[in-house]
Amino acid sequence: GRDDDQATTSIRVVRGDITAVHADAIINAANSSLLGGGGVDGAIHRAGGPAVLDACKTLRATTLPDGLAVGAAVATTAGNLPAQWIIHTVGPRHSTTEDRTDLLRSAYTRSLTLADSLGARTVAFPLISAGAYGWPRHDAVNVAVDAVTTATTDVDVVTLVAYDDETATLIRRALTR
Ligand code: APR
Repeated sequence: GRDDDQATTSIRVVRGDITAVHADAIINAANSSLLGGGGVDGAIHRAGGPAVLDACKTLRATTLPDGLAVGAAVATTAGNLPAQWIIHTVGPRHSTTEDRTDLLRSAYTRSLTLADSLGARTVAFPLISAGAYGWPRHDAVNVAVDAVTTATTDVDVVTLVAYDDETATLIRRALTR
């Protein structure tokens, strides 16, 4: 663990569909309702199957009646995905009047903290808030890379999943800085 070794977390970049990535935990860029949506959320629910939505509905009916706060994270079964858990987090919508960087960082760091508590050693993230939530891709990449490279975590491998080549290039460039 973090207190008894010199564990380092390696960061990998993969281009493609996150639903095909094998990891202990797959992170979903959800919305506060946890009831699904488009983008990566829609893809994860489609590939994970109905068990995922059932688990989200149960969370809403029990511990999260008002939904999941922006920057927070919660875990469910991964259903049919090649993973043990889905960690659902909610990134902030981009704002031109307010700096929401801390909330976006929190989506990454609280997902990693939850991964630690589950015992997950490999996790895969999409580029949170870079789609429907409107963050300029370059800014979303910089926050993601800064958050995962500075986090204190027991996770051994963080895979950053880029949906296209340009995003993969941006992430690789940010990682070499
Ligand atoms: N695998 C990996 N990345 C993907 C996939 C996929 N299958 N599908 C989309 N992406 C990428 C997008 O290209 C983008 O870079 O994920 C990034 C995040 O985009 P969104 O999925 O739109 O997520 P976000 O910007 O955080 O917006 C969240 O969108 O789907 C709704 O319910 C979700 O309301 C919430 C909002």
